[in-house]
Amino acid sequence: MNRVIRWMEKVNIPEDAAILDIGTGNAAFLVELAKEGFKNLTGIDYSSASVELALNVLEDEGLINIKVQEQDFLNPSTELKEFDLCIDKGTFDAISLNPDGRDMVKLQYVTSLRAVLKPHGHFVITSCNWTKEQLLQIFSPGFELLQELPTPHFQFGGMTGNSVTALVFRRLS
Ligand SMILES: C[S@@+](CC[C@H](N)C(=O)[O-])C[C@H]1O[C@@H](n2cnc3c(N)ncnc32)[C@H](O)[C@@H]1O
Repeated sequence: MNRVIRWMEKVNIPEDAAILDIGTGNAAFLVELAKEGFKNLTGIDYSSASVELALNVLEDEGLINIKVQEQDFLNPSTELKEFDLCIDKGTFDAISLNPDGRDMVKLQYVTSLRAVLKPHGHFVITSCNWTKEQLLQIFSPGFELLQELPTPHFQFGGMTGNSVTALVFRRLS
């Protein structure tokens, strides 16, 4: 979360930017974004239990202006659109590891992302399962890579790798 927020500050994402947290879980990212001053926040999750938990967490934090909706990102409602920035931490990983129709699911995710983001809007993904090269291939139809965010490195057998990949994409028009 911190490295994404640092990037948002560095590139001056405005505080009123419309931000979508895809697969918000317990809304931890939304809470951090609100603490940083971001005011136009929406989270979605397809799990009703996650949505209930997120709403409880936000209420406890006194953050009642954040929208949380129960939605399957692979079939989003037509009202979910016009976001300036979409954030995904771990959700694409969860979705794309489904063994049934994995390639179709990835394509559907990219289609949904294009539908909810404004042209030239940003998409920041943090993944533990896919490498930079794999993510570039998956998102290259419709998105360009802007930046790779620094993540911890490890060494094994003389090779260097990352346990997490964090990339910033921009939607092509
Ligand atoms: C690994 S958790 C990450 C949660 C949160 N982003 C975080 O960083 O703590 C993945 C989340 O994505 C949600 N999710 C999985 N598939 C989804 C889908 N198709 N549409 C919306 N949410 C989904 C799950 O319910 C879960 O809350």
